[in-house]
Amino acid sequence: MAAILSTTIASGAAIGQEAAMNEKHADAAVTYRQSLFQLIRSNMGPLGGMAKGAIPFDQAVIETNGMRLEQLADMLSDYLKVDTRKFDVDTEAKDEIWENWSDFEGKIEALKTASANLTAVAQTGDESQYRAAIGKVGASCKSCHDDFKAD
Ligand code: HEC
Repeated sequence: MAAILSTTIASGAAIGQEAAMNEKHADAAVTYRQSLFQLIRSNMGPLGGMAKGAIPFDQAVIETNGMRLEQLADMLSDYLKVDTRKFDVDTEAKDEIWENWSDFEGKIEALKTASANLTAVAQTGDESQYRAAIGKVGASCKSCHDDFKAD
């Protein structure tokens, strides 16, 4: 533990982060975090379609996917804390993630809150609120991408 802590401090990373140990570790970290975002996308896709009116609102899907998005958001901190800045990895993650870690965690919280709200709204069955609740989830994706993801 002492050794881990002193390495963390020596690398200048904030508490909660860990520097990738080598290129292989960094590559794996990128694969895992991009996979997590792909799962997030696959759960957001139908919700976006409903919000646009391309497919009908489906209460069960909204409730399920809202719960899944909250669970997936819960994994983001663990999968993004591996700081890959020192390695030449194929990523759209900006350095600012590890420079402004508490801001980044705030964006994760926003996705969690919006997803939990979406599930709660679906549970009420009040269809008039679905579009706005999906919109809040989408806004939380965009808000993080604007600051922390390269286009
Ligand atoms: C807390 C910040 C944050 C939030 C919230 C967030 N993203 Fe991202 N997203 C990122 C970052 C950073 C990357 C770049 C990851 C990389 O390339 O290593 C990314 C990448 C992606 C990718 C590309 C994955 C790949 O295979 O390269 C998709 C798709 C995506 N996000 C969708 C979403 C959707 C949909 C939401 C909302 C439901 C969302 N994201 C919310 C930060 C976020």
